[in-house]
Amino acid sequence: MRSSHTRSVILGTGSELPARVVTNAALEQLVDTTDEWITTRTGIKERRILEDGKGNSDMAYRAAQRALRDAGVEAKDLDAIIMGTVTPDYPFPSSACVLEDMLGARNAFSFDVNAACSGFLNALAVADSFIRTGMIRHALVLGSDTLSRLLNWKDRGTCILFGDGAGAVVLGATHDGHKGILSARLKTDGSHVKTLYVPAGGSLKPASLESVKKNEHTIAMNGKEVFKIAVRSMEEISRQALDEAGVSIDQVSLVIPHQANLRIISALAERLKVPMSKVMVNLERYGNTSAASVPVALDEARREGRIRDGDIVLLSAFGAGFAWGAAVIKF
Ligand code: UT7
Repeated sequence: MRSSHTRSVILGTGSELPARVVTNAALEQLVDTTDEWITTRTGIKERRILEDGKGNSDMAYRAAQRALRDAGVEAKDLDAIIMGTVTPDYPFPSSACVLEDMLGARNAFSFDVNAACSGFLNALAVADSFIRTGMIRHALVLGSDTLSRLLNWKDRGTCILFGDGAGAVVLGATHDGHKGILSARLKTDGSHVKTLYVPAGGSLKPASLESVKKNEHTIAMNGKEVFKIAVRSMEEISRQALDEAGVSIDQVSLVIPHQANLRIISALAERLKVPMSKVMVNLERYGNTSAASVPVALDEARREGRIRDGDIVLLSAFGAGFAWGAAVIKF
């Protein structure tokens, strides 16, 4: 258990999923796939896709407004806005800066965190540290991604997996020793950069006619490799976060894993010896929403009454980098 007297607590949550639904049946029209294959191999039935002309910050704004309302905190009281995303509105500045202006959060400093699907966990850990040191009192932490913008709609190995969404939490400082973020652990292994990445559009290979023609601005992935390492890594970091919190897995009421593949989630639950009844799953409706997956699931779990006062919740995520993380939170 951490010794610091100040902890961060979740004061409110919110999420936003775009209105446009793309079903597996619709994808059957685009690529050589079937609803049956997608359902049995991933658990995904449909996903949401952001309409053209809108950016990441449009979703993040709605999620943020809901989280602020839920928390009873005003935008002007935010000291920081930290967003996990790999799909900011612009290459720079950050989507968090765009959001700060949209919210009128004039007293906040804002930045994005790039840790792919683990982005929310990383953003949460950073904000938690700022709060525990006394640097800030209120933070808006988001995971918000529009991976639809990075998909090759001719690649059946990737286009069936991902969707768009945004999730947000408002963190506040507390001296109540019994609740809040009990632990947060992060890890990366950069030797796997090219197992899951977007080859062009950065400084190494800026956009060119050739890069566009070769589809190098879309996600390239070795799915099998990601699968294997994701299960192992999320199990390991979840155990580390539980140890740091001084909490046993039996004390956890709900596990909220990254929503990438139902088979990954089931394998993780089996390794952690947690029944699926204690695991939050919503990927059948949204697919893999990258950094948004954990905070969207957290918000839904709260609204469905699956998290009550005193409950201990384990968050765990894994994504490109590879980067992964876990956190234990007492509500
Ligand atoms: O946040 C992290 C992001 N990434 C992930 O989480 C990805 C993790 N990996 C996965 O979820 C799985 O590896 C996939 C769902 C991507 C693939 O499932 P798999 O069971 O590992 O299938 P596979 O790649 O071994 O492919 C099996 C077969 C192949 O055909 P052959 O070679 O056996 O004839 C593929 O070509 O399935 C084929 N296939 C498809 N068939 C129909 C691959 N994608 C599709 C598809 N529809 N969409």
